[in-house]
Amino acid sequence: MKPLVCALTKGRLADAAVELFDKAGELSGGIRAEMKKNSRRLIFSSEDSDINFFLAKATDVPTYVDYGAADIGVAGKDALLEGKRNLYEVLDLGVGKCRMVVAGPAGARDLVRRGNNIRVATKYPQIAIDYFTRRKQQSVEIIMLNGSVELAPIVGLSDVIVDIVETGGTLRENGLDILEEITPISARLVVNRASMKIEHARIVELIKNIKTILQKR
Ligand code: PRP
Repeated sequence: MKPLVCALTKGRLADAAVELFDKAGELSGGIRAEMKKNSRRLIFSSEDSDINFFLAKATDVPTYVDYGAADIGVAGKDALLEGKRNLYEVLDLGVGKCRMVVAGPAGARDLVRRGNNIRVATKYPQIAIDYFTRRKQQSVEIIMLNGSVELAPIVGLSDVIVDIVETGGTLRENGLDILEEITPISARLVVNRASMKIEHARIVELIKNIKTILQKR
């Protein structure tokens, strides 16, 4: 039987996902050993394994799963909302919890509320457009950045940011407030549409095993 392939989001989310798969009895001894000893390796496969894994960047996980390079994946809801891929989102794993928010200096609160034509800096242009233009019917200028987004309103590049807040530490340290909440975020188990048909029994069993572990938490 061909092993399933699972794409994981590199970093903390991968560690949390691997722990879940392990507790659910979905991690072979061979894979566990490979993961322990290889900190730079991206692909983990083993002869005794029903599921092999690879590590990808957060926003790329939905792409790998959509194209079928992976049958399943663990991705943040932020990456799923931003990527708009055609996948089955089957389970909220309850890890990697944070919030997508509009943040900025306290003085920008009124600008946002009044619906002025504001500048929004973000790593998540799609989420920002959906929120402002579709949900709030407010016209905004989106400025795409690749990181340290909190800088933008401080140095005058934008009025506000759309970004993820986990502990709130980065906003606090930089004198910014949460102005509006867009949506809660957490890691989701996603499945390729064709794999769901072809490997139906195995994937349903896997979902069931992970669900059992989640219910014990
Ligand atoms: C994320 C996010 C915030 C920060 C929030 O950035 O974009 O900047 O974490 O976390 P906190 O609320 O716990 O402070 P990341 O660490 O991924 O770095 P980046 O901004 O360079 O992408």
